[in-house]
Amino acid sequence: MSIAFVPGSFDPMHLGHLDVVDQALEVFGAVVVGVLHNPSKPSGLFTPEERVALAQQTVGNRSNVTVGAFSGLAVQAAAEAGADIIVKGLRTMSDFDIEQQMAQNNVALTGIRTVFVPCRPDLAYISSRFIREISSQGISIDHMVDPAVSVALQVKHGEATS
Ligand code: PNS
Repeated sequence: MSIAFVPGSFDPMHLGHLDVVDQALEVFGAVVVGVLHNPSKPSGLFTPEERVALAQQTVGNRSNVTVGAFSGLAVQAAAEAGADIIVKGLRTMSDFDIEQQMAQNNVALTGIRTVFVPCRPDLAYISSRFIREISSQGISIDHMVDPAVSVALQVKHGEATS
Protein backbone atom coordinates (compact mmCIF):
# COMPACT_ATOMS: atom_id res chain seq x y z
CA MET A 1 0.00 0.00 0.00
CA SER A 2 1.28 3.49 -0.87
CA ILE A 3 0.24 6.81 0.61
CA ALA A 4 -1.06 9.49 -1.76
CA PHE A 5 -1.01 13.16 -0.73
CA VAL A 6 -3.92 15.17 -2.17
CA PRO A 7 -3.29 18.89 -1.56
CA GLY A 8 -5.63 21.80 -2.16
CA SER A 9 -7.20 24.95 -0.80
CA PHE A 10 -10.49 23.11 -0.27
CA ASP A 11 -12.43 26.35 0.31
CA PRO A 12 -14.64 24.36 0.49
CA MET A 13 -14.14 20.72 -0.47
CA HIS A 14 -16.65 19.59 -3.12
CA LEU A 15 -17.70 16.37 -4.83
CA GLY A 16 -15.06 16.81 -7.57
CA HIS A 17 -12.38 16.82 -4.86
CA LEU A 18 -13.99 13.77 -3.27
CA ASP A 19 -13.81 11.92 -6.58
CA VAL A 20 -10.07 12.66 -6.76
CA VAL A 21 -9.66 11.31 -3.21
CA ASP A 22 -11.60 8.18 -4.17
CA GLN A 23 -9.53 7.64 -7.30
CA ALA A 24 -6.31 8.06 -5.28
CA LEU A 25 -7.63 5.67 -2.64
CA GLU A 26 -8.47 3.04 -5.21
CA VAL A 27 -5.03 3.18 -6.83
CA PHE A 28 -2.76 3.74 -3.82
CA GLY A 29 -4.69 2.39 -0.82
CA ALA A 30 -4.24 5.34 1.55
CA VAL A 31 -4.75 9.09 1.20
CA VAL A 32 -3.68 12.12 3.20
CA VAL A 33 -5.72 15.19 2.26
CA GLY A 34 -3.67 18.36 2.80
CA VAL A 35 -5.52 21.63 3.30
CA LEU A 36 -3.33 24.62 2.48
CA HIS A 37 -3.02 27.07 5.36
CA ASN A 38 -0.99 30.11 4.45
CA PRO A 39 -0.60 32.13 7.69
CA SER A 40 1.06 35.06 5.92
CA LYS A 41 -1.80 35.34 3.43
CA PRO A 42 -5.10 34.79 5.22
CA SER A 43 -7.83 34.65 2.62
CA GLY A 44 -10.78 32.63 1.55
CA LEU A 45 -14.30 32.13 2.80
CA PHE A 46 -13.63 29.45 5.41
CA THR A 47 -10.82 29.44 7.97
CA PRO A 48 -8.25 26.66 7.62
CA GLU A 49 -9.79 24.94 10.66
CA GLU A 50 -13.25 25.10 9.09
CA ARG A 51 -11.91 23.79 5.77
CA VAL A 52 -10.25 20.85 7.52
CA ALA A 53 -13.46 20.06 9.44
CA LEU A 54 -15.57 20.24 6.28
CA ALA A 55 -13.12 18.05 4.38
CA GLN A 56 -13.26 15.53 7.25
CA GLN A 57 -17.04 15.50 7.08
CA THR A 58 -16.94 15.13 3.30
CA VAL A 59 -14.59 12.12 3.33
CA GLY A 60 -16.75 10.67 6.08
CA ASN A 61 -15.82 7.25 7.40
CA ARG A 62 -13.62 6.15 4.50
CA SER A 63 -10.85 3.92 5.83
CA ASN A 64 -7.26 5.03 5.21
CA VAL A 65 -8.14 8.67 4.54
CA THR A 66 -6.89 11.39 6.89
CA VAL A 67 -7.20 15.17 6.63
CA GLY A 68 -4.80 17.80 7.94
CA ALA A 69 -3.63 21.34 7.33
CA PHE A 70 -0.25 22.26 5.88
CA SER A 71 1.66 25.45 5.24
CA GLY A 72 4.63 25.98 2.97
CA LEU A 73 5.17 23.71 0.00
CA ALA A 74 2.82 20.85 -0.76
CA VAL A 75 5.75 18.61 -1.54
CA GLN A 76 7.30 19.24 1.91
CA ALA A 77 3.98 18.38 3.52
CA ALA A 78 3.78 15.25 1.38
CA ALA A 79 7.23 14.17 2.56
CA GLU A 80 6.33 14.90 6.20
CA ALA A 81 3.16 12.82 5.82
CA GLY A 82 5.26 9.91 4.54
CA ALA A 83 3.51 10.07 1.19
CA ASP A 84 4.95 8.27 -1.81
CA ILE A 85 3.09 10.28 -4.40
CA ILE A 86 1.08 13.48 -4.90
CA VAL A 87 -2.25 13.12 -6.66
CA LYS A 88 -3.98 16.00 -8.45
CA GLY A 89 -7.22 16.08 -10.41
CA LEU A 90 -7.32 17.73 -13.82
CA ARG A 91 -10.44 19.39 -15.17
CA THR A 92 -9.12 21.41 -18.07
CA MET A 93 -6.02 21.97 -20.20
CA SER A 94 -5.33 25.17 -18.26
CA ASP A 95 -5.21 23.07 -15.07
CA PHE A 96 -2.58 20.94 -16.78
CA ASP A 97 -0.33 23.87 -17.72
CA ILE A 98 0.26 24.98 -14.14
CA GLU A 99 0.07 21.52 -12.60
CA GLN A 100 2.76 20.17 -14.91
CA GLN A 101 5.18 22.93 -13.84
CA MET A 102 4.43 22.31 -10.17
CA ALA A 103 4.92 18.56 -10.63
CA GLN A 104 8.28 19.13 -12.33
CA ASN A 105 9.41 21.45 -9.52
CA ASN A 106 8.24 18.98 -6.89
CA VAL A 107 10.06 15.98 -8.33
CA ALA A 108 13.22 18.04 -8.78
CA LEU A 109 13.06 19.16 -5.14
CA THR A 110 12.28 15.88 -3.42
CA GLY A 111 11.90 13.04 -5.87
CA ILE A 112 8.18 12.84 -5.03
CA ARG A 113 6.26 12.43 -8.25
CA THR A 114 2.78 13.65 -9.11
CA VAL A 115 0.07 11.55 -10.72
CA PHE A 116 -2.78 13.33 -12.48
CA VAL A 117 -6.23 11.84 -12.53
CA PRO A 118 -8.95 13.01 -14.90
CA CYS A 119 -12.02 14.44 -13.22
CA ARG A 120 -15.25 12.57 -13.67
CA PRO A 121 -16.95 14.29 -16.62
CA ASP A 122 -20.18 14.88 -14.69
CA LEU A 123 -18.22 16.68 -11.96
CA ALA A 124 -15.72 18.59 -14.11
CA TYR A 125 -17.67 21.86 -14.03
CA ILE A 126 -17.52 22.09 -10.25
CA SER A 127 -15.11 24.54 -8.62
CA SER A 128 -14.86 25.96 -5.11
CA ARG A 129 -14.80 29.48 -6.52
CA PHE A 130 -18.13 29.07 -8.31
CA ILE A 131 -19.62 27.28 -5.31
CA ARG A 132 -18.75 30.31 -3.15
CA GLU A 133 -20.13 32.70 -5.74
CA ILE A 134 -23.38 30.81 -6.45
CA SER A 135 -24.14 30.05 -2.81
CA SER A 136 -23.56 33.70 -1.84
CA GLN A 137 -26.68 34.49 -3.89
CA GLY A 138 -28.75 31.99 -1.90
CA ILE A 139 -28.84 29.51 -4.79
CA SER A 140 -28.56 25.82 -3.94
CA ILE A 141 -25.24 24.08 -4.54
CA ASP A 142 -26.45 20.85 -2.92
CA HIS A 143 -25.59 18.82 -6.02
CA MET A 144 -21.93 19.85 -5.75
CA VAL A 145 -21.05 19.33 -2.09
CA ASP A 146 -21.58 17.18 0.97
CA PRO A 147 -24.65 18.25 3.00
CA ALA A 148 -22.36 19.48 5.81
CA VAL A 149 -20.69 21.89 3.39
CA SER A 150 -24.04 23.11 2.13
CA VAL A 151 -25.14 23.93 5.68
CA ALA A 152 -21.80 25.61 6.46
CA LEU A 153 -22.12 27.80 3.36
CA GLN A 154 -25.61 28.89 4.35
CA VAL A 155 -24.37 29.77 7.84
CA LYS A 156 -21.32 31.60 6.48
CA HIS A 157 -23.32 33.67 4.03
CA GLY A 158 -25.93 34.33 6.73
CA GLU A 159 -23.16 35.65 8.99
CA ALA A 160 -21.99 37.93 6.18
CA THR A 161 -25.41 39.51 5.70
CA SER A 162 -26.52 39.71 9.32
O1 PNS B 1 -7.26 23.91 -4.59
P1 PNS B 1 -6.18 24.70 -5.22
O2 PNS B 1 -6.22 26.14 -4.78
O3 PNS B 1 -6.13 24.55 -6.71
O4 PNS B 1 -4.81 24.07 -4.65
C1 PNS B 1 -3.58 24.62 -5.00
C2 PNS B 1 -2.50 24.04 -4.11
C3 PNS B 1 -2.78 24.35 -2.64
C4 PNS B 1 -2.44 22.55 -4.28
C5 PNS B 1 -1.17 24.67 -4.57
O5 PNS B 1 -1.30 26.05 -4.64
C6 PNS B 1 -0.04 24.34 -3.62
O6 PNS B 1 0.42 23.24 -3.59
N1 PNS B 1 0.38 25.36 -2.85
C7 PNS B 1 1.39 25.20 -1.83
C8 PNS B 1 2.72 25.85 -2.26
C9 PNS B 1 3.40 25.00 -3.30
O7 PNS B 1 3.70 23.84 -3.06
N2 PNS B 1 3.62 25.60 -4.48
C10 PNS B 1 4.17 24.92 -5.60
C11 PNS B 1 5.64 25.22 -5.74
S1 PNS B 1 6.30 24.32 -7.09
